[in-house]
Amino acid sequence: MSERPKYFEYIRKLAKERAHLEIGETSNHVVDAGLAHIRRARGFNSVEELIDNVQRDPDSTLAMHVVESMTTNETSFFRDAHLWAALREHLLPALIKLRKTERRLNIWSAATASGQEAFSLAILIRENFPELEDWRVGIIASDISREMITRTRSAIYSEHEMSRGMPERLRERYFHKVDGGYQASDSLRNLIQPQVLNLAQSSLLLPKFDLVLARNVLIYFDVENKKKMLGQMAACMHPWTPLILGAGETTLNVEASFSEMDYGSFRFFSLENRNV
Ligand SMILES: C[S@@+](CC[C@H](N)C(=O)[O-])C[C@H]1O[C@@H](n2cnc3c(N)ncnc32)[C@H](O)[C@@H]1O
Repeated sequence: MSERPKYFEYIRKLAKERAHLEIGETSNHVVDAGLAHIRRARGFNSVEELIDNVQRDPDSTLAMHVVESMTTNETSFFRDAHLWAALREHLLPALIKLRKTERRLNIWSAATASGQEAFSLAILIRENFPELEDWRVGIIASDISREMITRTRSAIYSEHEMSRGMPERLRERYFHKVDGGYQASDSLRNLIQPQVLNLAQSSLLLPKFDLVLARNVLIYFDVENKKKMLGQMAACMHPWTPLILGAGETTLNVEASFSEMDYGSFRFFSLENRNV
């Protein structure tokens, strides 16, 4: 009998333990693609040899790389037009008013993948809120995947990635041509602090944020782990902090401390039943 079903089961368990990731029975292609990627990157002769090494030392960085490779890193610039309009027209102006004494804005792009969300935020701020020029503005761009955070740190995006959501006018203003694509300018990079961070960790050492984006990541977890993660996020938020999830995601029936808020047809969540 083939060994494949056995190691699928092992990888599923490992991903659940380490990152709370749910890999369904129908996602064997995700396991195959992830293992093939790590086998090539780490120079193993076969997937079996790779699995043997992981099983021998499940606490190794190799094991964590295997878990990271099971994640889906799909993202794009200015993904979901409603969000960027709501941030520009309502959420950021309200937060700026609220924080005008401290002159500081702490933003968290949790599960940022290759960083397009964080760079979209930085561009939105630079383009629309010149008054923030002399504030302390920081965007923590975190993800469980080291590879994604290395990419975010490099701030280099291919022609194809730029074609997915980045208007030419903004590309010309904020990026310059380099080998392999376009690199974001220092005026954006200075706002962004890339950081490897596993949302499944038991306690996240983070400051309080004024705005949290955790889009398209909760979908990968079961209800119990969603609840744990939302609880951890709540601990890093002020009562007024907007929490923005992916278009199909909600805290309803998962974590009761959040209320659903809206701005037009745009939905977000907050610990306080009061709009910012
Ligand atoms: C589909 S991408 C979403 C990217 C971006 N937020 C967006 O909506 O465009 C999901 C990201 O969640 C990250 N992720 C999965 N499990 C995680 C965990 N336990 N902790 C932190 N990030 C995780 C993956 O590495 C991946 O980059």
